[in-house]
Amino acid sequence: MSVKIAVLGHGVVGSGVCELFYKNKKSIEKRAGEEMDIKYILDLRDFPDSPYKEKFTKNFDDILNDDEVTSVAECMGGVEPAFTFVKSCLEKGKSVSTSNKELVAEKGDILLRTAKEHNCNFFFEASVGGAIPIIRPLHKCLAANDIDKVAGILNGTTNFILTKMYNDNMPFDEALALAQSLGYAEKDPTADVEGHDACRKICIISSLVFGRHVYPKSVYTKGISDIQLCDVEAADVLGCSVKLIASVRRLENGKILPTVMPTLVPYENIMSGVSDVFNAVLVYGDGIDQAMFYGRGAGKLPTASAVLGDVIETVKRTSTESAQTWEPSSDDSFIASHEEYVSRWYFRVPDGKQPSDAGSYRHDDGVSFITDKPFSFAQAMDMAKEMNAFAFMPVMD
Ligand SMILES: NC(=O)c1ccc[n+]([C@@H]2O[C@H](COP(=O)([O-])OP(=O)(O)OC[C@H]3O[C@@H](n4cnc5c(N)ncnc54)[C@H](OP(=O)(O)O)[C@@H]3O)[C@@H](O)[C@H]2O)c1
Repeated sequence: MSVKIAVLGHGVVGSGVCELFYKNKKSIEKRAGEEMDIKYILDLRDFPDSPYKEKFTKNFDDILNDDEVTSVAECMGGVEPAFTFVKSCLEKGKSVSTSNKELVAEKGDILLRTAKEHNCNFFFEASVGGAIPIIRPLHKCLAANDIDKVAGILNGTTNFILTKMYNDNMPFDEALALAQSLGYAEKDPTADVEGHDACRKICIISSLVFGRHVYPKSVYTKGISDIQLCDVEAADVLGCSVKLIASVRRLENGKILPTVMPTLVPYENIMSGVSDVFNAVLVYGDGIDQAMFYGRGAGKLPTASAVLGDVIETVKRTSTESAQTWEPSSDDSFIASHEEYVSRWYFRVPDGKQPSDAGSYRHDDGVSFITDKPFSFAQAMDMAKEMNAFAFMPVMD
């Protein structure tokens, strides 16, 4: 008898899961070591022209109460009702694979515990970096390392906008409108441009790497909506590109510091060349030194590829994957304040306020420079106030 799968949501990702599954069914089954089929697709809408039309249901209980269904792919998005649906599947011993970063960032600890209690799995490779394998490498291939820092470009929409500003001198609003017309940005682009999407992803990475749940509300998050074209141009003259960097590092005092900030990335850093909608994640460990993961961070088939990779794993595994887990956190005392973030800094200040003309770039909108020495965020804020700075951003190591 074949393993029966249910797919929750038939939007961009859910429809991609169905398409890729039936396209590659033979090789997927070979890799899973079992025959497999999609028995149900849950969605609110009707799909009368779909080749899978007999599989659709609007009633989640059809899936929950069918003991034949042992693996569920959640591709609806949002916290509710996804959380209730996923938790009740896990309570019935059905493993769940999801692309829903909001769900993992807000409720991952509860869902991982529920999976463990019912000897099944909650997998979420697709929730960070889309097609890029990063969750499983972090807790499997890199498990022998002491990982002390991860930094990434985790949002394709903002990277596309920044690339357009850089390559084509396009102002932010124009680049955002282009991203929307190409389908890269939502009608309401807030979650992308204000950094909330990247924040959810760095929460998931931080929780996995450092072992305690990091909630989005504990992460200092600044998006790219304030970035001026003159700063992108000045960064270029100073040998850097501007990227929205989500990162987490462990400090000497043992606390961790996750942040999302527009950051100048020097051209000698491989991350500076990651363009358009591509994502990249740099992992720093004592064994590997650095490893970079690069690829498409979103899209129908890239994301479906990651979801189906997890679905195959749920079919192969008969017990809970103990390495992919973290503890709940009742407070955020293990998270440092962003004011402790130390780096060199980029400033744009009124002419005359720069500490030195050497290494400064004078342009129509002020004078831009990068500090020689590193300072904490708190010190950088004081300096910005003193110089009446128009803009300041960290510079990546
Ligand atoms: N798109 C990407 O490239 C991408 C990449 C990585 C991760 N993700 C994540 O994957 C998830 C899905 O994204 P998406 O782009 O596929 O979204 P989407 O296109 O909006 O698809 C979601 C689907 O789920 C359905 N749905 C919502 N609530 C439901 C409910 N209560 N019962 C049944 N069906 C319901 C929606 O139906 P209606 O349309 O009728 O509401 C829609 O068809 C999100 O968490 C997203 O962040 C997406």
